Amino acid sequence: MMLQIPDILSKAQVAQCRQLMDAADWADGNATSGHQSALAKRNLQLPEGSPVARQIGDLIQDALGANATFFSAALPLKVFPPLFNRYEGGQAFDNHVDNAIRYLRGTGFRVRSDLSATLFLTEPEDYDGGELVVEDTYGQHRVKLPAGHLVLYPATSLHHVTPVTRGARVSSFFWIQSMVRDEGQRALLFELDTRIQQVAEAMGQKDSGVVGLTGVYHNLLRRWADA
Ligand code: NI
Repeated sequence: MMLQIPDILSKAQVAQCRQLMDAADWADGNATSGHQSALAKRNLQLPEGSPVARQIGDLIQDALGANATFFSAALPLKVFPPLFNRYEGGQAFDNHVDNAIRYLRGTGFRVRSDLSATLFLTEPEDYDGGELVVEDTYGQHRVKLPAGHLVLYPATSLHHVTPVTRGARVSSFFWIQSMVRDEGQRALLFELDTRIQQVAEAMGQKDSGVVGLTGVYHNLLRRWADA
């Protein structure tokens, strides 16, 4: 399941992030790559753990924590501290699958990447190219979202970023280990939760059907989740 979540960050928050990022020192993106992706990746990154990366990463993590759609779709157990990349002058990232396990350097913290996320921090009209292209059994999905919007997609997917031929594309990217490892189960829970909210809107939270279905949701989550 691919999901776009609008307005994770407000335009004011995006502007604040961009001000900090545009003044920061960027490094070769291959600092964080495995061997295979080092061959595929041509971009710049904010150094992992740098003060600016931490400051903006905390702001993003707080915003994610407050977003009900993100919680319902990802059912996050652990979120890897957000990283930041920048593509310009024809830079791109060829087709690849993200590493299964991400380690936070110098700590015991590690995340199994069940979901990959890209948070766009540049308005689409400010650059050409730079589309995130995700492949699944239904074909290719091209994603280029307004600044502050997020796309979530299965970390098992082949994906690439097309060359940026005008302007610069700045984004945050990170991985989520979900409480529900199985993608199909996670998608069903998201669908069920979304439908319960719709019915509750029409019938009221105290409707006995809504109460019963909410119980089914939680009992499925109890069955399937590691917490
Ligand atoms: Ni990737």
